Amino acid sequence: MTTAIIGLGNMGSGLARRLAGKGKLVLATRNAAAAASLAAEIGAESAGIADAIAAADTVVLALPYNSALELARSGALNGKVVVDISNPVKPDFSGLAIGFETSAAEEIQKAAPSAKVVKGFNTIFATLFAAPADDTANVPVFLAGEEAAVEQVATLVKNAGFAVEKTGTLDAARLLEPVGMLNIRFGYGLGRGTSIAPAWLSL
Ligand SMILES: NC(=O)c1ccc[n+]([C@@H]2O[C@H](COP(=O)([O-])OP(=O)(O)OC[C@H]3O[C@@H](n4cnc5c(N)ncnc54)[C@H](OP(=O)(O)O)[C@@H]3O)[C@@H](O)[C@H]2O)c1
Repeated sequence: MTTAIIGLGNMGSGLARRLAGKGKLVLATRNAAAAASLAAEIGAESAGIADAIAAADTVVLALPYNSALELARSGALNGKVVVDISNPVKPDFSGLAIGFETSAAEEIQKAAPSAKVVKGFNTIFATLFAAPADDTANVPVFLAGEEAAVEQVATLVKNAGFAVEKTGTLDAARLLEPVGMLNIRFGYGLGRGTSIAPAWLSL
């Protein structure tokens, strides 16, 4: 299985470091030199965005929502299992830019109809990728999407050192994105910091 990570900012580079050595990994971003440099450092490959997507079974969009949507509209993602990690927050972080009657993941799915979009990682702060993998083994990554695609992404989640919490079909993204927003409120607005993550308890 080949994973492509598109976008190598806080989330993309953090996930790349966690996935290094766990299967074929191709890194891509607008700055080809930055992708090549990180790839050389962690033992991955780098490529242009279109080539990285073409080579991959799973494509992680570690991009701002609007850039992910633009890529979906280009047709480049068609036929791929695509992980949308975005939190489509307003520029002032006061709420979700697209409201509650759709979700970023569903909009990306609409823009790339033959892709299989899976929501995931939006409740994980980038800080967590830098923690020892043992510390995050029980931290859930909530996944929403079509069953077989979720199963494929679940393997990636476990390889990245997190636990899997399946939430059903892609419409659950409109529940997960507000949870991501709540996590941001706890982390920044309420001063809890970014070494936090939501999880569901069974009593
Ligand atoms: N940071 C977090 O803790 C966190 C947590 C959960 C979810 N998320 C979500 O994860 C996503 C990425 O966040 P981040 O914090 O990693 O952002 P970031 O550090 O700003 O990185 C974004 C990356 O996307 C690249 N990019 C932007 N537009 C692009 C385009 N059109 N084509 C190709 N590459 C493009 C940027 O490239 P350049 O360097 O060339 O600009 C950069 O590498 C966002 O949707 C965010 O909501 C973030």
